Amino acid sequence: MATRPQSTASAAVGPGSRRLRAGAHALSAAEQPALPVWAYEGQVPGPVLRLRRGDVLDLTLENALRDPTTVHWHGVRVPNAMDGVPHLTQPPVMPGETFRYRFALPDAGTYWYHPHWGTPEQVERGLAGALVVEDDLPPPVDRDEVWLLDDWRLDASGRIAEDFYAFRDVAHAGRLGQRLTVNGAVEPTLALQAGQRLRLRLVNAANARIFALELPGLPAWLIARDGMPADAAVAWEGPLLLGPGMRADLVIDAAQAGRFTLRDRFGRGERLLAHLQVDGKAPTGAARPAPQPAAHEPLPAPTSTDAWMQPLVFGGGMMGMGGWPEDSPAARDARRQRRLAGSREADPVWTVNGHAHMGRHDAHPPLFSVPRGRTIRLQLANRTAWWHPIHVHGHHVKLLARNGEALPVQPWRDTVLLSPRDTAELAFVADNPGRWLIHCHVLEHHAGGMGAMFEVS
Ligand code: C2O
Ligand code: CU
Repeated sequence: MATRPQSTASAAVGPGSRRLRAGAHALSAAEQPALPVWAYEGQVPGPVLRLRRGDVLDLTLENALRDPTTVHWHGVRVPNAMDGVPHLTQPPVMPGETFRYRFALPDAGTYWYHPHWGTPEQVERGLAGALVVEDDLPPPVDRDEVWLLDDWRLDASGRIAEDFYAFRDVAHAGRLGQRLTVNGAVEPTLALQAGQRLRLRLVNAANARIFALELPGLPAWLIARDGMPADAAVAWEGPLLLGPGMRADLVIDAAQAGRFTLRDRFGRGERLLAHLQVDGKAPTGAARPAPQPAAHEPLPAPTSTDAWMQPLVFGGGMMGMGGWPEDSPAARDARRQRRLAGSREADPVWTVNGHAHMGRHDAHPPLFSVPRGRTIRLQLANRTAWWHPIHVHGHHVKLLARNGEALPVQPWRDTVLLSPRDTAELAFVADNPGRWLIHCHVLEHHAGGMGAMFEVS
């Protein structure tokens, strides 16, 4: 895992359309045997796609994998047919087939792309990349970089462990890996000149790992979350919680020479992720003022009256209320039979409003159906003992309240992290027609039933 990201997809197919080839690939690393991965364009992570707001993303997925796949554009307000959810918004792209994704990018910000078929396996094997949509008037910086965070579970031979959908992962915290990487590399270093201002776009592409991030020693501000600019820059002080699927854009001033380390302190212990190496002499004088986030995207404002009120109660998991289901010998045997039959499904362990969303995404009636333009208020209740990053497709949602308390600043998000027993209230205008998923982005939890679908007509 030492390949460096490049900034654009390379080979072109047909007029205006770039190629995005998903295929098996052996990553060569200097002192190790090559690591078999699945990769976009032979790179882990996939190429950083950089476009401007209003541009048309036009890309032909070529499936050179042995399994079906799709591409989901996480956080982008795409037309429904481009959302990449197999059976729900498009047929799965079978091995040897292609699919052309083509849509205008409505919002600037940091997004990412990943498969939505066999997601726990395909993302873990390396299929993920950043999509950067540049602002019309970005805050001025000297450098603009993406750090895509991931973890990998390797087996004793150093290969990606094949225990996808393992019950102990599905029913607990999801699949956590012991090797942490940034842009596919272990503890890479980004070199800066003293005095430079860096925009750093963090993407959490891990299946299940939640990061609590710190980078002590340099002045830093948060200017956007999940692509959406903050109203004002917020000084980065305490640990920044970044659940799977979530993004954070930071501005960091290389105010002094030295080596500064991005570290994760979620749960026990501390893990090092990447370093900033600042060389040279910073110009003397006053510290630079806080950056100004880009002007806010004009998203439709939720109305406070006549909203569709929708409770979303998350249940299940081991040690959750009800402790369901038991890891009984019968359940274990059923899983063994399914594995022998080649099935790659998880067990139904998690529920939304009492229902486990298993199997094909189109096999379930919508949780709610609303006419286009209706304001939705989602009342999320985590009745489990676990953390869940809840992702809404096709829309940005406003986070109104947590645990019954209205937030003084109500930010836009596409993924909201719930701690155990947390509640949260979200609102958005359902202005994008189609059938959309809401699901936990711990990929094993989603595979274990933690999802739902809603319809806007
Ligand atoms: Cu990033 Cu439905 O997912
Ligand atoms: Cu979850």
